[in-house]
Amino acid sequence: MESIRKWEQGEAVPMDLLLLADPSEQKVKEYYQKGEMYIAEINNHVVGVYVRIQINEITTELINIAVSEDWQGKGIGKRLVEHSLHTARQAGYKRIEVGTGNSSLDQLALYQKLGFRMEHIIKDYFAEYNQPIIENGIVCRDMVRLAQEL
Ligand code: COA
Repeated sequence: MESIRKWEQGEAVPMDLLLLADPSEQKVKEYYQKGEMYIAEINNHVVGVYVRIQINEITTELINIAVSEDWQGKGIGKRLVEHSLHTARQAGYKRIEVGTGNSSLDQLALYQKLGFRMEHIIKDYFAEYNQPIIENGIVCRDMVRLAQEL
């Protein structure tokens, strides 16, 4: 079983994992520097990560979550999302948001199973990405925004 802890400044950044969830290294760097990053470890080996940033005093966003390919499908993603809800509550936030692609069916399932509800769609959010992203045979074009009260 993995253990989840806060990532500390100066530790190695699990960039390969962060890039699984977001192809833009520049964006990834921006948000892990301004947010809080947590890592899931098994035998001192990083197998998962999430980053939570502040939107405003009452709202936080789960901006990146990823589990290394070898460890996916074993419940670590669920435990990371649950952990993010816990740390958000502890920090005093009243609401948490997350965004994912229209084609990310597993992620849409994961977030809804853990209490998030769909709020709105940002059409063509992913149109700026040069390489078309295709998942489950669906072109990823729009961002689905989900949220829950804490
Ligand atoms: N087949 C079908 N459904 C799956 C699945 C698989 N192999 N793996 C995960 N799921 C779905 C299921 O709905 C599952 O719920 P269940 O256990 O009630 O069936 C739910 O996801 C959670 O599974 P879990 O094992 O906790 O997920 P995970 O450890 O694989 O982590 C991600 C989920 C999304 C973090 C992980 O797949 C990942 O890193 N993907 C690449 C990066 C990414 O897309 N990040 C999110 C950007 S929005």
